[in-house]
Amino acid sequence: MQWILIFIFSVLFLFILSTLWFKKSRKYESDNSVASSYDSWTNDRLLENLWGEHIHLGFYEKPRLKKDFRQAKIDFVHELVHWSGLNKLPKGSRVLDVGCGIGGSSRILSKEYGFDVVGISISKEQIKRANELTSNEDFCRFDVMNALDLKFPEGSFDGVWSVEAGPHISDKQKFADEMLRVLRPGGVLAIADWNQRDKNKDRLNFF
Ligand SMILES: C[S@@+](CC[C@H](N)C(=O)[O-])C[C@H]1O[C@@H](n2cnc3c(N)ncnc32)[C@H](O)[C@@H]1O
Repeated sequence: MQWILIFIFSVLFLFILSTLWFKKSRKYESDNSVASSYDSWTNDRLLENLWGEHIHLGFYEKPRLKKDFRQAKIDFVHELVHWSGLNKLPKGSRVLDVGCGIGGSSRILSKEYGFDVVGISISKEQIKRANELTSNEDFCRFDVMNALDLKFPEGSFDGVWSVEAGPHISDKQKFADEMLRVLRPGGVLAIADWNQRDKNKDRLNFF
C-alpha cells in the first residue's frame, strides 16, 4: 500500500513538474492589460512586499557573494549608472525614467546623483504609489504615460533610463525611437532588459 502511494505521488510530482517546464510564457495582450496587471499588483502590494521599491533583478558580483536580494536591486541601479556613464552628467541634469515602476530608480537618481528626474509608467496606480513614496525634497516627479507616445519635445533630456520595461512593450523599434527622440544629442541612454535565448539556436546545456 505504502509503495503504491509513493508511486502515485511520484507520477503526480513529475506530471506537475513537466507541465510547468513546458508551459509557454504568457502572451502579450495589450498596453491596457499591462497597465491593469501592474495596477492590481501595486494595489495588493504583492511586488512591493516581496521586492521592495524595485521591480527588477539585482546585481551579484563575481565570485557570487551571499547578499540580501533587496540590496542587490539597489546595487544594480548604481552599477548601471556607472556602466552607462550617467554618473558623468552634472548635477541638475534632466533624466527620464521610462517604465519607472513605483519610482525606486528615480529616487536614487535624484537623491544620490542630484538629477532632476521624471518617471513615467503606463500604470496609474504605480504613479500614485510613486508619489506617495517620494518626499518633497526629492527632485523627481511622476506621470502616467505610454513609452510609445512620450509627451516631451525632442532632445528634452540629458539622460534616458529604462530598466526591465522593454519586454512589456510590443513595438521595440518605436520604444527605442521615442527614447532617442527625447534624448538630446550626446546624452546618455541607459537601458537594462532581460532577454530570452533562442532555444533553436542555442540549446540549454545543463552540464
Ligand atoms: C518590471 S517593471 C520595472 C519597473 C522599474 N523600472 C524598476 O526597475 O523598478 C516594468 C515597468 O514598465 C512599465 N511599462 C510597461 N509597458 C509600458 C508602456 N508601454 N509605457 C510605459 N510604461 C510601461 C510598467 O508599468 C512597469 O512600471
